[in-house]
This record gives sequence, structure tokens and C-alpha cells, in this order.
Amino acid sequence: MHIILLGAPGTGKGTQSKFIIEKYQIPQISTGDILRDSIKLKNKIGKKIYKILKNGQLVSDDIVCNLVYERIKKADCANGFLLDGFPRTIKQAKYISYLGIKINFVLEFIVPDDLILKRISGRRIHPESGRSYHIYFNPPKEEGIDDITKEKLITREDDKIKSVKNRLENHKKNIDLLTKYYLNQEKLKNLKFFKIDGTEKPEIIQKKIKIILEKKE
Ligand code: AP5
Ligand code: MG
Repeated sequence: MHIILLGAPGTGKGTQSKFIIEKYQIPQISTGDILRDSIKLKNKIGKKIYKILKNGQLVSDDIVCNLVYERIKKADCANGFLLDGFPRTIKQAKYISYLGIKINFVLEFIVPDDLILKRISGRRIHPESGRSYHIYFNPPKEEGIDDITKEKLITREDDKIKSVKNRLENHKKNIDLLTKYYLNQEKLKNLKFFKIDGTEKPEIIQKKIKIILEKKE
């Protein structure tokens, strides 16, 4: 099973990933998480990536495609994987096709910008796993603490308003071409493309995704 999640920042890609990967027992490949891991290495490339993420800009296609390629070669991807936040450009989408990966589902999350800003301002994450919470909409069982590891939650550095605006702008620049690309692939290949209303409660969205995935398997 190969699934792609598209959507602007804060539309719930990370939140919904967790349930999908459990359902299919496949790994979540979040390019944002991989890039944040590269930053932790504190080498030359990590420092370069840090500046790009902090400003809410896109990392170059070559770097991101290479990171994804290295990740999907690993044994745990043998039965499929979920791509969260990749592709983000048409070049990245074409790269997946070039690798010959057969995508089963593309789900695009749609949320208006004002709600995105509310969500991102209240987001807290568990840096090790990428688990995402919201102080009001999706609070952890204990304030500021990850439900599973009991470690502290943090605010992401790129969740400041200026970076979020750049992230939204980059999304808007690329999404039309991406959706056109996958609508076309839907006609040519056995791929299913769905737009998901991301404004509903996480549990409702989860149920809707479950129906989509089960009906069309
Ligand atoms: P990345 O980490 O992927 O960030 P993003 O795409 O901006 O998306 P987010 O993680 O912010 O949002 P999300 O959709 O996962 O929402 P979440 O579930 O957390 O990428 C970071 C950066 O890395 C990019 O800006 C770029 O620089 C670089 N990068 C990454 N991939 C790249 C690529 N392919 N090419 C180039 N550069 C790349 O939810 C958000 C909040 O809302 C949470 O608090 C959550 O609890 C809450 N919430 C979720 N669902 C609901 C709901 N239904 N109702 C109420 N609250 C909800
Ligand atoms: Mg995310």
C-alpha cells in the first residue's frame, strides 16, 4: 500500500498519518520529520536545512528526493509506505513516478487559512516521534507531555507567523500543478485521488478516510 498525503501546513497530515500507518502497518515518511532529524546532526547540510525550514521555505528538490530515496530503500518499506508532505513540487511528483512506485491513494486535506493559523499557533509536538497535539483541539492527556513516552512537548520553530505565511504561500504556488498531475494519473493508472474536508474533528476525518480506504482497496 502506497499513500500520499497532500495539504497545506496544519491541515492534519501528521495527525491522520498515525492512524493510517497503524491500519496498514506501514511506515510514515514525513519529509518534514526527516529534515528536522538532519538538522540535529549539526553538520554543514544540517545548518543549511535549519535556515530554510526556519524561514518556511522549501528545501531543494534534489536534497528532498535523495532523502526520500534513501528512506524508501529500507526494509520496512517493502510492503508500502505513507508519504506525508512529499511530493510538494511537480518535480518531486515526477520523481516518484520515475522510481516506478505504484501509488494507491492520494488524499488532499483542505482547510481554510484562518483555521490553519489557529491550529498552528496551538500546536505542540513530540520531537522524537513527530506526534502532534493541539492545546485546545487535540490536547495530550497531561498538559505539555507526550501521551506515549511521557516526554516533554515542544513548539516547532517554523510555527511562527512569518514562517507559516511563507509555508502557505509555497503551498499555494505548487498545489494546482500537483492536483492536476494526480487527477491525470487517476485517469491513466489505478490511483485514487480524494479531497478531504480537514475542518472536521480528527475522529470524524479518521472515519471518513477509513471508509475511503476500505471501499476502494
Ligand atoms: P512539515 O513538517 O511537513 O510541515 P507542513 O507541511 O508545513 O505541515 P505541518 O506538519 O505543519 O502540518 P500537518 O498537516 O502535519 O498538521 P498536523 O497534523 O500537525 O514540513 C516542514 C518544512 O520542511 C517545510 O516548511 C519545508 O521547509 C520542509 N519540507 C518538508 N517537506 C518538503 C518537501 N517535500 N520539499 C521541500 N521542502 C520540504 O496538525 C496541525 C495542528 O492542528 C496540530 O496542533 C493538530 O493537533 C491540530 N489538528 C490536526 N487535525 C485537526 C482537526 N481535525 N481539528 C482540530 N485540530 C486539528
Ligand atoms: Mg506534519
